[in-house]
Amino acid sequence: MCANVLGELACEIMRCERCGLSQTRRNAVPGEGPEDARIMMIGEAPGGAEDLAGRPFVGRAGAILNRALLLAGLSRDEIFITNIVKCRPPGNRRPSRDEIRACMPYLRRQIEIIRPSAICLLGNVPAKAVLGVQGVTALRGRIFGDLYLITFHPAAVMRNMDRMELFVSDLAKLRKMVSNHAC
Ligand code: URA
Repeated sequence: MCANVLGELACEIMRCERCGLSQTRRNAVPGEGPEDARIMMIGEAPGGAEDLAGRPFVGRAGAILNRALLLAGLSRDEIFITNIVKCRPPGNRRPSRDEIRACMPYLRRQIEIIRPSAICLLGNVPAKAVLGVQGVTALRGRIFGDLYLITFHPAAVMRNMDRMELFVSDLAKLRKMVSNHAC
């Protein structure tokens, strides 16, 4: 786990006590994926399944994400997946502003290390924390600064499966962003 720069950072995250979430978590969830990933995905915060496993998006929202990735022609193995906050907020509440502020340096370092060609922000919490914008329904599918794409959070798709088609088309756009970069 600590074998490379990203792994060292993951080890630091697993020992983190920068905010109160460290007192209630079972496992911190640093994120997973290759250090040379061209695509990064950023969710909100680990839920119960992720807290147990120490891995991102392994619960019901993760199953939706996996299905959408497959339909969009993307392989989860090639993507670095993480969250705005690395520890589960009790009861799956939204992370507070202070918790987000305490955790953001980890995300910034992950982005600096990976230097992805495309970053997908899953829902309002990452859109607000990273870009300072809100309103996913209006902003989804839009690219910001050639690097960021906003789309639904998979849990929002789970609540309304009519959103699946748009979610998949946004992920396909992400694939195009990366292939455009390669030319
Ligand atoms: N929801 C998130 O935002 N992140 C996860 O890792 C799981 C569910």
